[in-house]
Amino acid sequence: MGPEIDRALTQGLELIGATADLEALAAAETAVLGRRAPVVELRRGLAALDEDGRRVFGQALNTARQRLESAVGERRAELGAVERRRRLEAERLDLTEVVPERRVGRVHPFTAAWERLEDVFLGMGFQVAEGPEIETEALNFGALNFPEGHPARESFDTLWVEWGAPGSTLLRTHTSPVQVRTMLAQEPPIYVICPGRVFRQDTPDATHMPVFHQIEGLVIDRGITMGDLAGTLEEFTKAFFGGSFTSRLRPSYFPFTEPSAEFDIQRPDGSWMELGGCGMVHPNVLRAGGIDPEEWSGFAFGFGIDRFALARHGVDDLREFWSGDIRFLSQF
Ligand code: DAH
Repeated sequence: MGPEIDRALTQGLELIGATADLEALAAAETAVLGRRAPVVELRRGLAALDEDGRRVFGQALNTARQRLESAVGERRAELGAVERRRRLEAERLDLTEVVPERRVGRVHPFTAAWERLEDVFLGMGFQVAEGPEIETEALNFGALNFPEGHPARESFDTLWVEWGAPGSTLLRTHTSPVQVRTMLAQEPPIYVICPGRVFRQDTPDATHMPVFHQIEGLVIDRGITMGDLAGTLEEFTKAFFGGSFTSRLRPSYFPFTEPSAEFDIQRPDGSWMELGGCGMVHPNVLRAGGIDPEEWSGFAFGFGIDRFALARHGVDDLREFWSGDIRFLSQF
């Protein structure tokens, strides 16, 4: 039986030594130590031997099995290290790397969309206004004509900030409070856009993030009508998307505008995409901004910026844009 044990050991060690990866090692382990392995089969032969033979060869089989087991363990450690090194190498990002023939840095797709939107509106005579990301409840809701306890307040999934009286401070849920801030800060006529970050208590998925970007528009002047709103959005659509795009307004509801509408654009293939909301600024909002609704009227609009980047680049998962993974971002 001795030579057979030796052979099982030598062949087993060879098989283990020849494995190229962890998967092959798992197969080799079954072959040399599993139920059908030679060292296991040979053990059955012990029954036919006398007591001395059983002791000697039983011991030899045990030793062989232990050597095979430790050979498997050592090989597993080696192959694991090789695979880890290979993976690290494949995922390596050299942030100091300079590739001379290529642009090294570039603007994030959200920033690019934001800047293009600004450019188009600046070209149409608008100015850019800004407001804080931490906002008062009074400006985010109250001044925008959300009645106390109105369900529209709940629908915003507000992230509250522990500051001042409970329920007085929040992360702005939209850029609309910048409308009121602008009215309070400057005399009409007003032609502004307000791009910025907004926050809602949303679980991240392909189309939602708790942080996203909006752009607000506000026009206050004498004799402004819904026709001016429709005309401005149509001009914007053509300037931003191209001459083969058109827009339409659909009746809707927002507390801060009356009448209110949804703003859709039509692609050259005839399909429609919803961009955001708009409407004539509600008299209560004008009054909250210190503006006399008898003398002045205006329109406002607001839409999401991130969706522009998504649609423009044909990406279907918003989270990709937040990954910060340079291999994804450098495609744009
Ligand atoms: N603030 C709204 C939102 O976040 C969007 C919006 C709708 C803004 C209508 C407007 C508007 O200025 O007139 O859903």
